[in-house]
Amino acid sequence: MSLHLGDVAPDFNADTTDGRIDFHEWKGDSWAVLFSHPADYTPVCTTELGRVAGLKGEFDKRGTKVIALSVDPIEDHRGWAPDIGEVTGNALNFPIIADPDRKVAELYDMIHPGEGDTSTVRSVFVIGPDNRIKLSLTYPKSVGRNFDELLRVLDALQATEKAPIATPADWRPGDRVIVSLAVSTDEARKMFANVEERKPYLRYADAPSA
Ligand code: BEZ
Repeated sequence: MSLHLGDVAPDFNADTTDGRIDFHEWKGDSWAVLFSHPADYTPVCTTELGRVAGLKGEFDKRGTKVIALSVDPIEDHRGWAPDIGEVTGNALNFPIIADPDRKVAELYDMIHPGEGDTSTVRSVFVIGPDNRIKLSLTYPKSVGRNFDELLRVLDALQATEKAPIATPADWRPGDRVIVSLAVSTDEARKMFANVEERKPYLRYADAPSA
């Protein structure tokens, strides 16, 4: 199934390393990152899951739950988990979904036949409190993801949900933002501090404080 930004993230039941979950119930009204990896006991995946475990505090600060998935069975997830802690220094601290029948992988279109076999590629879905898909990323099996970028984009998504703004290239929290095209410059001057009109269609402003 092909999913688009703004679609409701499909619900499912699955076994995870933290027990059986109903995805929407587990997620509640938090933000969530659902990400797949190709296989347990593989090198890039070991570094990726360790990195996410090391960033758990950063995801918590952003009110975001993280959950991984592969088509390996639960016994493999449990057997592999200690390696992640040993190799990366970060013990697994979030659930991994076991999807041996590929039910969730197919729901989220995480299997790409051109990528070798019927395991999942490196998909990422950022899902908002309203259960809608806010961002999706797809990386090939050979390339590990940049999880600093995932935190950056979570910050940008959360900022742009709160006010009629957009974020420019490479934006980071604290940088100036772009006023939405739906807001006139006069209105923008009432809503935001330090509005600067570089072009009629490009107005910078200080980011509104949270
Ligand atoms: C890895 O995690 O290293 C990996 C897994 C499957 C295919 C290629 C690389």
